[in-house]
Amino acid sequence: MANTILVGAQWGDEGKGKIIDVLTANADIVVRSQGGNNAGHTVIHRGVKYILHLIPSGILRRRKVCVIGNGVVIDPVALVREIEGLQKMGIAVGKNLLISDCAHLVLPYHRVLDEQRELLKGHAKIGTTKRGIGPAYGDKAARTGLRISDLMQPALFSKKLQAKIRENNSILQALGAKPINFCEVKEAYLAAGEKLRPFVANTVVWLHRALQRDRAILFEGAQGTFLDIDHGTYPYVTSSNTTAGGACTGSGVPPHRMDIVMGVVKAYTTRVGEGSLPTEDATLADMLHEMGREFGATTGRPRRCGWFDAVAARYATMINGIDELAVTNLDGLDSVDPIRVCVGYRLEGKRLDVPPSDAAQLEKCEAVYEETPGWKTSTQAAKKFSDLPEAAQSYVQRLAELTGAKLTIVSVGPTRGQTIVL
Ligand code: GDP
Ligand code: IMO
Ligand code: MG
Repeated sequence: MANTILVGAQWGDEGKGKIIDVLTANADIVVRSQGGNNAGHTVIHRGVKYILHLIPSGILRRRKVCVIGNGVVIDPVALVREIEGLQKMGIAVGKNLLISDCAHLVLPYHRVLDEQRELLKGHAKIGTTKRGIGPAYGDKAARTGLRISDLMQPALFSKKLQAKIRENNSILQALGAKPINFCEVKEAYLAAGEKLRPFVANTVVWLHRALQRDRAILFEGAQGTFLDIDHGTYPYVTSSNTTAGGACTGSGVPPHRMDIVMGVVKAYTTRVGEGSLPTEDATLADMLHEMGREFGATTGRPRRCGWFDAVAARYATMINGIDELAVTNLDGLDSVDPIRVCVGYRLEGKRLDVPPSDAAQLEKCEAVYEETPGWKTSTQAAKKFSDLPEAAQSYVQRLAELTGAKLTIVSVGPTRGQTIVL
C-alpha cells in the first residue's frame, strides 16, 4: 500500500475512523499528526462500538503500529483513560503504540481557559469541544508550552508546571474562575506520565527507519478541511492544520514520501459547533436525528446537517491535493427524495464557485442547488457498486465529478463489511 494521507474534506466527522479501520488492513503503521482529544473517530466492529480520541483507529487491528505524532496535543490523563478503556475492551495496547516526545501537553488551565473564553464570547462563541485545544496550541505557538519530554523529567516538569500555573491562575482569577491547584495537577500528570513512559519515543526517527524498510504508512487526519486554522472558516475553526500538509509537519515525514491523498466526505454535510453551513437544512437534520444519527462522538451534541456542498468539496480537493474520494453515509439518504446538491454559492447577486475566505461573507452566501431523484430503498446490504440502485450510483458519481477526485470507496453502513471498494 502507498503512503496515504487521509483527510476529512468537510467540517469533521466524515467517517474517517471507519475508513481508516478499513484501510489499515493493508497498512503497517497508522499515524495521528494533529488535533487532540477533540476528535472522536468511531469504529464499529463485531457489534462493538469503539470511539478513538487520541489513539489512531488502526489500534483495533493486530500487528499494526500506531503513532501519536509531534503535532498532536495530548492530555496525558485522558490518554491513559483511553488506553485503559481499550484494554478493558480486550484491545492490546503495548508495543503497538508510540507517542512522540515532542507532542505538546494539554493542561487543566487550557481546558478552563477554553471554557472561559467561550463564555466571554457569548453569542459569538466557537462552540469548541472544551478540551483545551485552542489554548494548548496557543502556548505551543507562543513557545510557552510543556511537552511530553518535559513530563518524562519529573523535577523539570514540576518546576515548569508551577510557573505556568502561577501565570495562568492570575488570568483565571481575573476572569472569576476557580484557580488550579498545583499539587493536584502535578500528582495526576506525573502519575499519567509514568504510565505513558513505555510508549514515549523519538517518533520522527522511528518513522524514517520504517520508511527505509518500505513500511506502508497511513496518516489519519482529525477534524476536517473547513476546521483548518489557515484554510477553514476562521475563526470558527480548530487550532491545527487539518489539511494534508499537517500530516508532514505533525509527523516529520517529508512531502515527497507521501503517495496518495484520500479525502473523506459524507454523502451530505454535517457540522458541530458554530459558524456558517451554507447548505444547512432543518428538515434533513430532523430526519437524521430521528434515525438516531448525527450526534457528536466526543460531546454528544446534535450535529447540524445539510445537503452535500460541492463548492466546499471542490475547494478541499484543491488545497489538500485529493486524489481519491471516499463517500460515507450514503445510506443516510436512502429515504430522501429528491436529493439536493449545492453546485454554487450566490453572494449579493454574484455566482461564486469557491467559498469566500471571510466568515461574514460566507454567512451571507446562498446555496445554488441541483436536484436529483432519490432511490428510496436501503443501500446498506450493497457489497459492490453495481448492487447500488442506479439513482444512488449516479448520485455518488456526480459527487465525485463535482469534487474533481476519483471515487474509490463508498460506505453504506458503519461496519467494516458495509464498504464498497471500487
Ligand atoms: P470521524 O470523526 O470522521 O471518524 O467520524 P465520526 O465517527 O465522528 O462520525 C461518523 C459517524 O458515522 C459514526 O457514527 C460512524 O459510525 C458513522 N458511519 C461512518 N460511515 C458510515 C456509513 O457509511 N453509514 C452509516 N450509517 N454510518 C456511518
Ligand atoms: P473529528 O476528528 C467535528 C469543532 C468543534 C468546534 C471547533 C473548535 O472527530 O472529525 P476545538 O475543541 O477543536 O477548539 O473546537 O471545531 N471540532 C470538530 N468537529 N469533528 C471533530 O473531530 C472536531 N474537532 C473539533 O465542534 O466547532
Ligand atoms: Mg468525529
